Amino acid sequence: MELSHNQIVLASGAATLSLALGIVLVKKLSRPDEFKVPLVGGEDADINALKLRYVREADVVLQEGYEKFRNEIFQVATPDGPRLFLPRRYAHDLKKYKRHEASGMKALADRHIGNYTTIDHESDIMLGAIKMDLNRNLGLFVGDVEEEIRLCFDTQFLPCDDWTPIDLHEQLLRVVAQASARIFVGAPLCRNDEWLECSTKFALDVMTGGEKLKQWSPWLRPVAQWFVPEMRRIHGDHQRARDLLAPELRRRRDEERAGVAVPRNDMIQWMFDRAKKTGDTSFDDKELANLQMLTATAAIHTTRLAIIHALYDLAAHPEYVEPLRQEIAAVRAEEGSPVLKKQTLTALRKLDSFMKESQRHSPPSVATFQRKAMVPITLSDGFHIPAGTIAQVNTNVLDETPAEWGDPHAFDGFRFYKLRTENNPEENSHKFQFVSPTYDSMQFGYGNDACPGRWFAGQQIKLVLAHILSNYDIKFADGLKERPKNFMFEVNVMADPSAVVLFKRIEKK
Ligand code: HEM
Repeated sequence: MELSHNQIVLASGAATLSLALGIVLVKKLSRPDEFKVPLVGGEDADINALKLRYVREADVVLQEGYEKFRNEIFQVATPDGPRLFLPRRYAHDLKKYKRHEASGMKALADRHIGNYTTIDHESDIMLGAIKMDLNRNLGLFVGDVEEEIRLCFDTQFLPCDDWTPIDLHEQLLRVVAQASARIFVGAPLCRNDEWLECSTKFALDVMTGGEKLKQWSPWLRPVAQWFVPEMRRIHGDHQRARDLLAPELRRRRDEERAGVAVPRNDMIQWMFDRAKKTGDTSFDDKELANLQMLTATAAIHTTRLAIIHALYDLAAHPEYVEPLRQEIAAVRAEEGSPVLKKQTLTALRKLDSFMKESQRHSPPSVATFQRKAMVPITLSDGFHIPAGTIAQVNTNVLDETPAEWGDPHAFDGFRFYKLRTENNPEENSHKFQFVSPTYDSMQFGYGNDACPGRWFAGQQIKLVLAHILSNYDIKFADGLKERPKNFMFEVNVMADPSAVVLFKRIEKK
């Protein structure tokens, strides 16, 4: 939709007016003393300065909250109003609530105004397909995912015969999107540039469009959404996904009619099968396209970011390269096959430990356990959380690390390998895996609604890292030895995109 100059002027005028109105209202209606708990930064501080601090350095704000209030609940001023932060121990309380009582998805949808950005959409079909079908079939996919990863490196990466700068953010987006799409929509659609663009840009449009639309007062948003380019793109993305899926769906239906359908084992099939089994007649091609976009949104950027963090850590700690390579070579030799299998991935315990340590230092968010109270909630000490409140657990306080884990601030790539193999290996072998969310390790969330895609993510991360370790040397450009500092957007931890990593293909003997 093209806008005329007058429309744009009108829209900007309305935006400025509503922004001013919004700020006054936020100040008036959302005073942080709404909750009877202390405010980080103090009651007398300039509320807008506190909000800005939260946007830019939520990690520092939450650490400050922890140091000042220790085991007490505190609140933080955020652009979305005051937010409650709970000490870790309350995770035990919140974990008992079912998703219709304390919802992680609703908390996320609220943060990105999901009723406009279309992510306020909870689906049993999608959750079932990830939680059950995807996870049940993981062992069958290792070869397919690995093939897709290899194909991507062979066709999308520069030759790297000498040290070559690689745009990790861009290149790994392609690798992870294509490898995930192989399981979500199958081949050949998983290699279709347009599909990959559509399924990856959608998440960015949701985040950026949501932030822009939030600047408008809630009353103007129904109209304002059409003036925000990313918001207009979101609606287009849904239609595009439908159009791109159409030939694949037609082919499958034609084959079925002709009685020559080949059995398919991918997310498209699982979603249709689930709808059939549950008699959900509202599930159609449009809904399939929507759920594919949502699944891609949850899966791709998170997995890509974890790989980037791990590579930054590897470049900053090259002493881990050789032991990791040796582990991969040994496991491959034992398997007697150059292709990795599910069991061989499980045997990569040092790599698993390195991934977990990298994630401990650079989690996806410093408050991974967040819930919207859908009903009034009373915590074990009597603290009352009114319905509609978003509460988050302060999950990334390194000083709370159990003493037996060693120095919590050091980077010890084999910390979890040691914890798994020394003392009580039976119990610890499971507890300290990358994919195991525990009370002390909530990077994938906690409880029943912890990330259901973590096994798939873990598998992909291992495959990509094993491919890179086996084929390339890496280092930072300009002789940089330390990993670049992460930057924050609210509670989200982002890898510095300006860091340049050089790749050089290993000469095979
Ligand atoms: C390294 C990659 C990933 C990270 C760090 C990550 C992290 C998370 C976190 C922190 C949560 C919130 C859990 C909670 O509040 O208890 C979550 C939820 C979720 N994740 Fe992941 N995730 C990753 C990959 C994936 C993948 C690959 C998929 C899909 C295949 C996926 C699908 C989901 C879904 C559907 C939810 C919502 C679960 C629910 O509400 O029941 N994630 N993820």
